[in-house]
Amino acid sequence: AKIRRYKWEVKYEYKSPDCFRKLVITVNGRTPGPTILAKENDTIVVELKNSLLTENVAIYWHGIRQKGTPWFDGTEGVTQCPILPGETFIYRFVVDRPGTYLYHAHYGMQREAGLYGSIRVAPEKPEPFSYDYDRSIILNDWYHKSTHEQATGLSSIPFQWVEEPQSLLIQGKGKFNCSQLTAPSLNVSSFCDASKPECSPYVLTVVPGKTFRLRISSLTALSALSFQIEGHNMTVVEADGHYVEPFVVQNLFIYSGETYSVLIKADQDPSRNYWATTNVVNRPPKTPPGLAILNYYPNNPKRLPPTAPPPGPYWDDVQPRLNQSLAIKAHQNFTTPPPPISDRLILFLNTQNLVNGYRRWSVNNVSFNLPNIPYLISLKNDLTQAFDQTPPPNGFNLTSYDIYNIPENRNGTASSAIYRLSFNSTVDIVLQNAKYNENGSTSETHPWHLHGHDFWVLGYGEGKFDMYKDPRKYNLVNPIMKNTVPVHPYGWTALRFQADNPGAWAFHCHIESHFYMGMGVVFAEGIERLGKLPSSIMGCVGH
Ligand code: C2O
Ligand code: CU
Repeated sequence: AKIRRYKWEVKYEYKSPDCFRKLVITVNGRTPGPTILAKENDTIVVELKNSLLTENVAIYWHGIRQKGTPWFDGTEGVTQCPILPGETFIYRFVVDRPGTYLYHAHYGMQREAGLYGSIRVAPEKPEPFSYDYDRSIILNDWYHKSTHEQATGLSSIPFQWVEEPQSLLIQGKGKFNCSQLTAPSLNVSSFCDASKPECSPYVLTVVPGKTFRLRISSLTALSALSFQIEGHNMTVVEADGHYVEPFVVQNLFIYSGETYSVLIKADQDPSRNYWATTNVVNRPPKTPPGLAILNYYPNNPKRLPPTAPPPGPYWDDVQPRLNQSLAIKAHQNFTTPPPPISDRLILFLNTQNLVNGYRRWSVNNVSFNLPNIPYLISLKNDLTQAFDQTPPPNGFNLTSYDIYNIPENRNGTASSAIYRLSFNSTVDIVLQNAKYNENGSTSETHPWHLHGHDFWVLGYGEGKFDMYKDPRKYNLVNPIMKNTVPVHPYGWTALRFQADNPGAWAFHCHIESHFYMGMGVVFAEGIERLGKLPSSIMGCVGH
């Protein structure tokens, strides 16, 4: 195994990813930042300089379990103090599993300012499929307002929602229609210019007749997406770093925090190019589709396809999305079945509450607040004053709660309390979705992401979870392991994981504004097994 060293500088720069000029956070001048390419069991060393001048930063290695290095998870407030402006912090961790992973900012809502990128870990052993070449793209949604303005609006009375994104980006490129910005006094072309090469569509070049592996990830701030390539089917072979029993799709539904690999054969008319498109689903699409070009070599990569981009699937149809979730099973030669029973069941009801008049997301009526001292530090040093010590609720009233209505009393509380798990215990989580506000019949898709572990996805269901009947339908034979999973509107999702990684780990909705508004929890296990914490994570703790 090798040591791979990176030197990164994080700073604000003006960029026009979708033709509209705004301040974005770059890594070494780029967004998405540089790709980390490694081999299974390599050690990654990232020397990170924070050149944001007035903002803290922390970078999270999404999907990397950090076995033995919980302090380098990169989650500000949970595993480390923030990296202050001007400071340099060194992350050092092992990538112990092959697959497709991500990195992104984990401080406030900085991720959506552009601080993100790909991690690709090559396997030591042969894979259960073959391909001629390998590409990665990250899908994202994009806002023109600054992260600051959005975060401030979300934490104000009256509440100011972020609304729908202005564009969708494929590997950092999108196209906003600048002509929407006509106001006589505005010199639009000075900050929105569709002719900028920076916002020309992303081009994926393929050789006719060959098969390529496309690694598709989503790091959207809000949107659930559908991705498709005109005229080409996709065979899904990997999800969140685990091999999937292959299945074919035309549209791949993908939620923020998920990664997939698909195989695509370039077997269509080689004399032209094709559209790759991404569309918003689950929310009324007010954002134009994101477009990239699948270029058949040797056609000119800039030549636009002669056909109109294919329309996405109907946005409000949950069934095909649930069907895709149900279709994802572990590859038959790579299954590690879960323990047949669990030691503990925790139910998480996802709702929107009011906390002192502020609109907040919560689980079991508790909205999550980060403490001033990161949990890893306060747990290790028994600083019991540092966060709320009363354990948060293990569930909600499953018999009486009506998931199709909002409760009469919408008030909730905010807390920094955490779930303490017995080391090496088997934990079941059931995420329960519900109607979340008074307007219409709304229940949103929430992609939940777990730090420090992969979990088995035991099942998905519609309506309210039945504690007696539903567990009998769990897939204990070949459930896929993932680190991010959707809970569909008015549905539930059941997970199982082994609390075998000493540390403090966030589990949260991957929608940037939802986690910011409190939609998350923290698990802690095996703290007593940890050695001395590195002093580099403790910058915010007084001595
Ligand atoms: Cu990719 Cu804690 O998030
Ligand atoms: Cu959410």
